[in-house]
Amino acid sequence: MTTLSMPEAPFDRWLAAMRQRHSRRSFDGQPLAGEALAAVREAVSGWQRVEEARVVVLDEAPETIFKGIVGGYGRVTGAPSALVMIGSSDGPAAQTSVGYFGQAAILEATALDIGTCWVGGMFDSKRVNRLVGLESGERVLAISPIGTARQQVSSAERIVYRAKRPKPRKPVTDIAEGLGSAAWSAWARAGVEAARIAPSANNRQPWRFRADGNSVVVAFDGPESRFVSKRLDCGIAMLHFEIAARAAGVSGAWELLEHRSDVARFALGTA
Ligand SMILES: Cc1cc2nc3c(=O)[nH]c(=O)nc-3n(C[C@H](O)[C@H](O)[C@H](O)COP(=O)(O)O)c2cc1C
Repeated sequence: MTTLSMPEAPFDRWLAAMRQRHSRRSFDGQPLAGEALAAVREAVSGWQRVEEARVVVLDEAPETIFKGIVGGYGRVTGAPSALVMIGSSDGPAAQTSVGYFGQAAILEATALDIGTCWVGGMFDSKRVNRLVGLESGERVLAISPIGTARQQVSSAERIVYRAKRPKPRKPVTDIAEGLGSAAWSAWARAGVEAARIAPSANNRQPWRFRADGNSVVVAFDGPESRFVSKRLDCGIAMLHFEIAARAAGVSGAWELLEHRSDVARFALGTA
């Protein structure tokens, strides 16, 4: 069984990063400082080839790898570098792991004051594949620009993404039934609150949490998507959940599930 946990993660730092992160699509075109890039590279190096996912830092990201909507609106611009989120396949466990480890890279970058934006569909996959050099069976599931975000939200960002902050999120009770009840312990409630602010493709927030004894199960809502996998979104939310649970004094690990829409179970004390 595949399990995901990050007992060594800097929880306070990432908790703060989670709360300040917003997707950024407009960058200043300047290369990142060598130390900043080295710090991101150092962070992701610990997660190479673990549990079906790896994250690669692309020092130089040609702008054309980011595809945009006709007319240039919505395109990521001015990003000097990128993160490439690679799955060992496009199977369910790889999708979830890429979300989880990819978000770790995003949070570390955010903590370093680097702008990011998950990009799951609108990128030139052939070009990115060539730039990173994939191994047999591997697939690039998403990328993210990294760089210094422009202070002002660009007009393209405003028009296409109605970029006013914070982005709307579903009420907690929509994503976790009966959250106020005794079935939910304080650490589990903290986990759901943190998962709620996670990014997701089209801000669809597909994660649904249910308390199950001393564990919490996450599943995705509705049918699986043919484009960006909802399991990838859930992997992102799972990292947020785990960080907040750990900050609330609980250690545990996510055991991946593949039954219908179930994605994983957070079981206590196994980390
Ligand atoms: C897996 C994934 C794929 C995404 N793909 C794109 C994309 O192709 N283009 C884009 O501009 N934003 C993309 N986003 C960003 C979402 O639109 C954004 O996370 C969501 O609207 C919430 O906004 P926030 O990140 O500012 O909180 C993606 C996000 C995720 C998690």
